[in-house]
Amino acid sequence: MYWQATPPGPAEGFDLGGTDETLARLSTWFGAYGNVYRVFSPSRGAYFYVLNHPDDVRHVLLSNHRNYTKGEGMDRVRLLLGNGIMTSEGDFWRAQRRMIQPAFHRRVLARFDALIGAVNDRYAEVWAQRAARGEAIDVAAETSALTLEIVLRSIFGTDLQRLEHRLGANPFDVLATDTARDLRFAYRFRSLARLIGELAAQRRAGTEEHFDFLAMLMQARSREDGAPMSEAVLVDEIMTLIVAGHETTAAALAWTWYLIGRHPQTAERLQAEAEGARRANPGAAGPMGLEAAEALAFTRQVIQESLRLYPPGWLFTRRSIEADRLGGHLIGPRTDLFISPYILHRHPDFWDAPEEFKPERFASADSAERHRFAYLPFSVGPRHCIGENLAMFEMLVHISTMSRRFRLAPANDDPVEFEAQINLRPRSALMMTVEER
Ligand code: HEM
Repeated sequence: MYWQATPPGPAEGFDLGGTDETLARLSTWFGAYGNVYRVFSPSRGAYFYVLNHPDDVRHVLLSNHRNYTKGEGMDRVRLLLGNGIMTSEGDFWRAQRRMIQPAFHRRVLARFDALIGAVNDRYAEVWAQRAARGEAIDVAAETSALTLEIVLRSIFGTDLQRLEHRLGANPFDVLATDTARDLRFAYRFRSLARLIGELAAQRRAGTEEHFDFLAMLMQARSREDGAPMSEAVLVDEIMTLIVAGHETTAAALAWTWYLIGRHPQTAERLQAEAEGARRANPGAAGPMGLEAAEALAFTRQVIQESLRLYPPGWLFTRRSIEADRLGGHLIGPRTDLFISPYILHRHPDFWDAPEEFKPERFASADSAERHRFAYLPFSVGPRHCIGENLAMFEMLVHISTMSRRFRLAPANDDPVEFEAQINLRPRSALMMTVEER
């Protein structure tokens, strides 16, 4: 095979990264240069490679993943999360992932049904009051507050209320109330680390049994030496779960409502599916379980299609350790690579009518024909999202619960603007009218 040393690329230099400008450039350059191109980074004095073909994605994220670290994009994330499993590398990452993975087993996640149900029921009551008053809701703010509550309660359990009581407010609310993700925010958020350390110390000193992620991570033992995580490591892992579990799910739900609001027929089908599931099991009291949620086939397709069009994790970065061959080109060691699910999810060679909202494309017969690596909202390979099943459970219950009870419609015709930073989020309020069915 013939290996071309240099792929095409724009003449001008540009520092790719988690910024709105990057998303705009990636879209334009994909049109101009296609599946693989390179861009000169003035700040690094080197070329970055952008990969838009699923075969190269498979190579980097799966087949040859050992040759890649997470690279460039993680420096900013590390300020916020420390050295948790999102940002760590090598043997340390592997050992931590092994210790944390059992906490995300389906049997464990199924036990969060009451918590997820209760938070959604409470929000449903608030939405009903807003509907009665004829007030619109900001779905971006609502889904942010709702997913924050679910993630915090799944991590801290009953300690969260005690903490709120003691401090007079929920100290982690800054995640929903302060939407900036700059250095100042990182500093404010990191100052919460002390509270997590204190909670862990109190639990160690007490005898109370807890069922939540903090308890599971405190009980986890290393396969190598049987030791628990040190306090500093535990704190970084908990901070990681809070941030990784909150903002992504919040953005995904906000985008899903945005799309549902613009497709009334979809809203009606969602309502019918939710109603049907309830009628099929009239005697079932209590919250929706994991299996029942996963059986909501159309609701799942709507969420999958929303994650295709607006993947919260819209840009992955990787850095090569040794030289490698990619997309017909040789790349050197320590080369920065960019993979954008946003671009891949709209690649015309792999998606029919990529700009259209068509949840049915995820019906099993259709999706079986698709390239497996053209769709990566939760990434693929060993570094794929540890929270995927939890996120899907949460989102299915939320969309189904609310669709059965309410009809949401856009409150105005304002075009929605993206904010493409660490996550792809709506830039401002997403106002929708809410009506009880
Ligand atoms: C819709 C919701 C979610 C989306 C779209 C999402 C997406 C992703 C993506 C794309 C990655 C890989 C990032 C990369 O390779 O650079 C990732 C990793 C991760 N996610 Fe999620 N995520 C979601 C929800 C969650 C939840 C609910 C949790 C936990 C409570 C979570 C915890 C993590 C962690 C810890 C990692 C790092 C895994 C590792 O490197 O071993 N995520 N997620």
